[in-house]
Amino acid sequence: MNSLKLLQLECSPRGENSTSRHFTHHLLPAMAERFGRDIQVVRRDLGAEPLPPITAEYAESLVLPIAEAKSRFGAALALSDHLIQELDDADMLWISAPVHNFTVPAVLKNWIDLVVRRDVTFKTTENGKVGLLQDRPTFVAVTSGGAMFREPALQPDFFRPYLKAALGVIGLKDVTFMHATGLAFADEPLSVVETKAEQWLREASFRRTIPSIA
Ligand SMILES: Cc1cc2nc3c(=O)[nH]c(=O)nc-3n(C[C@H](O)[C@H](O)[C@H](O)COP(=O)(O)O)c2cc1C
Repeated sequence: MNSLKLLQLECSPRGENSTSRHFTHHLLPAMAERFGRDIQVVRRDLGAEPLPPITAEYAESLVLPIAEAKSRFGAALALSDHLIQELDDADMLWISAPVHNFTVPAVLKNWIDLVVRRDVTFKTTENGKVGLLQDRPTFVAVTSGGAMFREPALQPDFFRPYLKAALGVIGLKDVTFMHATGLAFADEPLSVVETKAEQWLREASFRRTIPSIA
């Protein structure tokens, strides 16, 4: 059986001290074992090597019909084309990210701005935007310093609704969030993350996601 291709986006600037990376490092091998397939990982470290900010040419190109955009701004679209191809080649998407100011880190937002493209990854219709990419399982390992993702809310959650909307608009609807929060109050945040990972791996929701990959 062919191996599964997984595109892994790392979004923390904190390198090996990163809690969200640690969360992923703890979860991914166990999940790979449960999928029963070899996993070929393409890793993009947005935290260590942020993508360049979008340019005026790129922004101009987004409002043009695709043929004109390519002929006038082809070079300015090259990075975006490459990132979209990289995403489309993947059977699964995996994102490790901290919460930054109630939402996704800027490096992830930048990636989103480069892959959400009219007439390439979504089209506009009279009923709104419709994704053009085939859906695929997407896992998001997210960590935060304070209390997030709980009721009653102590901080607004612009992370999950935003990411769901941004991925959904290009066709990625099968999104699973795994979180470890309140890490600023933990003496040993990395071991809290490990405990959360083990707990999450035991959850039935994880098993439900497997058939969509198999
Ligand atoms: C710029 C910045 C903004 C942050 N904003 C929030 C926030 O809004 N809510 C929160 O709970 N934690 C916030 N934090 C804390 C991080 O989410 C927390 O430290 C997380 O564990 C970091 O993950 P990492 O180790 O993978 O970078 C923020 C941290 C930084 C650096």
